[in-house]
Parts: sequence; C-alpha cells; structure tokens
Amino acid sequence: MVSEQDLERAAWLLRNGGLVALPTETVYGLGANALDVEAVRRVYRVKGRPSTSPLIVHVASIEMARGLALRWPIEANILAGRYWPGPLTMVVPKRPVVPDLVTAGLATVGLRMPAHPVTLEVIRRAQIPVAAPSANRFTGLSPTTAAHVAAALGGEIDFILDGGPCEVGIESTVISLAGAEPVLLRPGIIPLAEIEALLEMPVRTQDAAEGAHPSPGLHPRHYSPRTPLVLVTGGALPPGRVAYLYWSQPSDAVLGIPMPDDPIAYARQLYASLHRADDAAVDCIAVEMPPGGPEWAGIRDRLERAAVG
Ligand code: TXA
Ligand code: MG
Repeated sequence: MVSEQDLERAAWLLRNGGLVALPTETVYGLGANALDVEAVRRVYRVKGRPSTSPLIVHVASIEMARGLALRWPIEANILAGRYWPGPLTMVVPKRPVVPDLVTAGLATVGLRMPAHPVTLEVIRRAQIPVAAPSANRFTGLSPTTAAHVAAALGGEIDFILDGGPCEVGIESTVISLAGAEPVLLRPGIIPLAEIEALLEMPVRTQDAAEGAHPSPGLHPRHYSPRTPLVLVTGGALPPGRVAYLYWSQPSDAVLGIPMPDDPIAYARQLYASLHRADDAAVDCIAVEMPPGGPEWAGIRDRLERAAVG
C-alpha cells in the first residue's frame, strides 16, 4: 500500500534529481525529472542503456503534454481523448525545453499519460514531466511487480513505489505522429485496427514504412530473460530441463506454466511467468507460440524479441 508519505517522498525525490520506480498499468518505470539532465543521465547509467535509445516522458495532463510538444496534431487530440490515461505513447515534435539526452538527440519526444492513480498523483504533486523507461536493466525482462524492480535495480535507485501488479503487463503501444502519416513503432495491447478506425486512415508499421521516423529503442534482442528462450509449436520441447509456458496442452516439462488463451489476460501474466521461469534454474524456457490474429501482435512482438536466434 502506498501512503501519503510515500507519495510526498516520491514527488520530492523526483523534484530533487532522484530516481523513483513507479507503477504504471503497463510495466514499472524508472522515473526521473525529464527536465533535469543529470537525473536523466543517471537513468541511462543505472539501466546500462545506450544513450542512443530515447526515453518516454510521462505526463499527468494534456496541458503538460502540449507544453513539451512543438506541434500537437489533431491525431494526438483524437488518440489522447480515447486512450489517455492509458497504454499509448505518442511521438511528436519536441520543444527545446525537452533535453536532447531524453530523446537521444531526436527532434521528437514520446509522450504518455499512464493509467495508474499512484503515478498520476506523484506526477501531479511533483509538477514535472517524468522520463521513465521500463525499470529493468537494458535488454532484461521488464518488471510488472515492485519485487521484480527490487531484484533488478534495488540497491541503485532512491525509492520504489509499490502500486501492485501491472494490469496490462506489456509495454505501451508507440505511434509516431511526427511525420506526414502515423507510423506504428511498437505494438502493444491496443488493436491497431481500432486506432485506424478512430483516425480514419491506415497506420503503417515500422517495417513497412520507408524513410520512417527512426525508433532506436527497437533493439532486435530486447526483453530477454537470462535463460535461453525458444518458441515452439505442438508441444515439441527441446532436450534438458525446460520451463514451458503453454496455452493449449501441457507437455513433459520440469516446470509447466499454464497461460490464458485470451490476449488481454495473457499479456497481464507474460512477464511474471517469464521471471518465474527464469528464476527456476532451467536450461531453457520454451514458450508455445500464441495463436495468430492481430490482437496478439504485441505479445508476439515481445516473444520474438525475447527468443534466441
Ligand atoms: O509502457 C511503457 O511504455 C513503459 C512504461 C514505463 O511507461 N515504458 C517503456 O519505456 O517501455 P522503454 O524505454 O523501455 O521503451 C521506450 C520506447 C523505445 O524503445 C523507443 O522505441 C520508443 O519508446 N521511443 C521513445 N521516444 C521515441 C522517439 N522520440 N522516437 C521514436 N521512438 C521513441
Ligand atoms: Mg524497456
């Protein structure tokens, strides 16, 4: 439980250059004052993240977002109206007030209003935008509980706010509105078709987009457990001690972890299940390939990035 003192302490730390792990509905973030270059530098250092990978800036109101955006396109208004607070990050041209370090030198900034009452309240009290990547080491598994954060970064950050397990469970959908047409930079839990229907236009995906806005954070190998992870179909497991995340049939594994066959519920459990498998001292984590279909795109993306080879 988060107390009144915890909220005050988190806001105070952020205002004074501290690093605070914050609960959001997607994953836990490692928060710092987005306008404080030294604090942001510490975020990169603690994560071990190259400074070529831009950070998402979290806001508590549309006014705060507009104060950081050089342009606020009509599409941003439409999408914020529907999804904020929520698991959508919008990339828009940035104002000079946003330090280049936050955006890895890009002329754009990724903005998101998270749907977690604790973090919204902390941002409101601190009255500053909060840069927050996922609170894990670079290329590691994202945290969906405060315990995951403590295990990965515990000794190195100033405070961890425990807001309970994350509701959505995978990182936000990232869409760029900085160019002539919207481009999907990272799939999440929001169905792309829903965004296209709202905007009344097609949204290209990063791969298909020519000369698209760069998305340097989209490392091929990302979101990985320490243990090698393979994607399997039909229960064909590799040899050795295997942890198996399955949604259809259990198989002969040392550790079997049943997963939901519904994408919303699956996403919510994904990282916690991978953390559990990773902690089980197995040779390999096998994950049954989830069903096809556009509503699984965000989950497939994370699993493909986590898989070896
Ligand atoms: O759900 C989330 O988005 C979580 C929570 C904490 O909000 N945050 C998160 O941050 O996943 P991070 O740093 O792990 O991923 C940020 C991604 C980068 O990989 C990059 O692709 C994209 O957002 N991004 C941020 N700013 C961008 C920009 N200016 N241009 C293009 N892509 C950007
Ligand atoms: Mg991350």
